[in-house]
Amino acid sequence: MADEQKLFKVTIDNITVEVAPGTTILNAARLIGGDIVPPAMCYYSKLQGSGGKCRTCLVKVTKGSEADPRPMPKLVASCRTTVMDGMEVANITSPEVVDARKSIVEFLLINHPLDCPVCDQAGECHLQDLSYEHGVSATRYEFKRRTFDKVDLGDHIKLHMTRCILCYRCVFTADQLTDKREHGILGRGDHSEISTYIEQNLDNDFIGNVIDVCPVGALTDKTFRFKNRVWFLKPVDAHRDCENPKCCGKTVLWMRGDEVFRVTARKDQYGEVEAYICDTCRFEKKETSDWVIEGPRKINRHSVISQGHYVGMVKPQETIVKVMDGRAPKLLMDIHRVSEVNRPEIDLSKIEGPAHSDDFKINGVHPQ
Ligand code: SF4
Ligand code: SF4
Ligand code: FES
Repeated sequence: MADEQKLFKVTIDNITVEVAPGTTILNAARLIGGDIVPPAMCYYSKLQGSGGKCRTCLVKVTKGSEADPRPMPKLVASCRTTVMDGMEVANITSPEVVDARKSIVEFLLINHPLDCPVCDQAGECHLQDLSYEHGVSATRYEFKRRTFDKVDLGDHIKLHMTRCILCYRCVFTADQLTDKREHGILGRGDHSEISTYIEQNLDNDFIGNVIDVCPVGALTDKTFRFKNRVWFLKPVDAHRDCENPKCCGKTVLWMRGDEVFRVTARKDQYGEVEAYICDTCRFEKKETSDWVIEGPRKINRHSVISQGHYVGMVKPQETIVKVMDGRAPKLLMDIHRVSEVNRPEIDLSKIEGPAHSDDFKINGVHPQ
């Protein structure tokens, strides 16, 4: 009879779970679930070597193991520390951890612009959540912040380096998922930055996945930038028979009415994609006719997006004929064709930053 693997008992915030040897504290906490799961800005279970960069997942090991019950002297990164049998860990029950996490958030925000009102990631951003939960209202940083010009990384991706937290996820994604390594982190310390070396294109069948793995709004989808806010869109599960054998073809369409604003991979409650999708599905299939629609997507994580659903929706009945005593109208005007914010010559995606009323002027004056 094959030897049964001995499981390790680990207690996190007074909840005990049994896990296989080699499991990290973070993954043990994910097995328990709920509020005791440490936040993770750089760890990504599907990317080898990820974790250990951001320190948001710090926890306190109050008892090392049954064999050696001494506590660990410092807080440890739960995504990189494996459990021992009998280990006891404190996360939200430790004031020291909560205080340290607050400092980590302050550190992550040192150079961060916090331009959430104009950032495409707002509403689904883990840094925004952390700032809300742990951030302080003022900064103690007195030096000039790092600033960068926005960079086009190929046809579909734009890099806002000012928002990058140097988590390395996009670098690992390009390295492990695509055929060639095209970008990395250049420089050291506060000179570090994501770069494609001489700003080459990121051009690869699966490179769009860097947008999904980026925990902040540093890598944005140029086909979606500034087009809408995610909480106004309705996420819908859809699939298609993708010609690319490596693509699962299972996506989320972010819709408003019949319009598909963006296509993303499906993500779990920790913001990790369930299966990667190719660039054709992501950037080129923006018609509902390209997809088999399965139904509303349930957003597992705590997010304002969960408010927007097409559940139980009833299409309003056509009433014009009824109110006109059975007569059909001779002329119907589609207000969206004449509204000044929908003028065809204005491409909102080409406006740098949020649109301003000046962008809609005709010959210097607002249309009446
Ligand atoms: S990346 Fe997140 S925290 Fe930063 S500006 Fe965008 S939404 Fe706000
Ligand atoms: S661009 Fe995004 S995914 Fe890449 S290192 Fe920066 S924050 Fe991480
Ligand atoms: S998630 Fe553990 S260090 Fe970033």
